[in-house]
Amino acid sequence: MRHLLSAADLDRTTAIEVLDAAAQMAATQAREIKKLPTLRGRTVVNLFFEDSTRTRISFETAAKRLSADVINFAAKGSSVSKGESLKDTAQTLQAMGADAVVIRHPASGAPHRLAHSGWVGTSVVNAGDGTHQHPTQALLDAYTIRRHLTGTTANPDGVGNDLAGLRVAIVGDVLHSRVARSNVQLLHTLGAEVTLVSPPTLVPVGAEAWPCSISYHLDAVLADQQPDAIMMLRVQRERMGGDRTGATGFFPSPLEYTRSFGLDSRRLRMLPDHAIVLHPGPMNRGLEISAEAADSPRAVILEQVANGVAVRMAVLYLLLAQERETLA
Ligand code: CP
Repeated sequence: MRHLLSAADLDRTTAIEVLDAAAQMAATQAREIKKLPTLRGRTVVNLFFEDSTRTRISFETAAKRLSADVINFAAKGSSVSKGESLKDTAQTLQAMGADAVVIRHPASGAPHRLAHSGWVGTSVVNAGDGTHQHPTQALLDAYTIRRHLTGTTANPDGVGNDLAGLRVAIVGDVLHSRVARSNVQLLHTLGAEVTLVSPPTLVPVGAEAWPCSISYHLDAVLADQQPDAIMMLRVQRERMGGDRTGATGFFPSPLEYTRSFGLDSRRLRMLPDHAIVLHPGPMNRGLEISAEAADSPRAVILEQVANGVAVRMAVLYLLLAQERETLA
């Protein structure tokens, strides 16, 4: 792998290789000394043009646990406010010795542009671009699902396994969700059966061609399909506009959204006993997920965050350390 820009970059073999490497990384994180020398002398730049808590911190943690030097760049407070372009910003950071650039950007396609424009010679990792892709989120979700639903006493992380036969429901604001787009692709690649559940207004044009089914009725999906995992999506109100009543152009009121598409304790009880609840965060408690559901024993939301470090260690390792091994 030279770059990781999209879940579509990962075929089944490569995806399992990343998940298996993440399991090895996770094992090292249970040790007293968590740091590995793997990327000593390499520099990872975190280039964040959009807000982030989980992704930015976990990429930073992952790079540091692999002994890389880390440069954190946030557009707020930088020369971007003076009009500096993505090209000039990236080339400035490469001049300081970057080996990999982890980029989050509000514009869909910005990581692809950076990787293929010839502006920089580094590896590029997409940490979320617009409504397009968030491949490391999909990998950490797949890792979490695989561990919980295919792990055994002899193989607790499900190493070597794909997700064949598992049913995953992805619920909510699909239209604005790079997480949904990445997950549909990766979960399908790994053999899972994916159902998107959303109000019709929040289903993107063209979604009928994606490798999943689409429903507008959450209760029916829970009752009929009995999903093994349910992934609640954040309602991205900042991308919707709306008025002081909470109405948006996409649903009449927050209460009506919650009644039809929110995960609450009644819907939690409709799930099979083994089913798990995922959310990429940040959560709108009381809108797409109730506090009871978010804090229930079925919720693996904080595990997703912890697994994000191991998955991002694996991605940086496969991009940078293997490249060095090949060159040696
Ligand atoms: N899941 C996710 O991308 O969260 P952040 O926006 O906090 O990075």
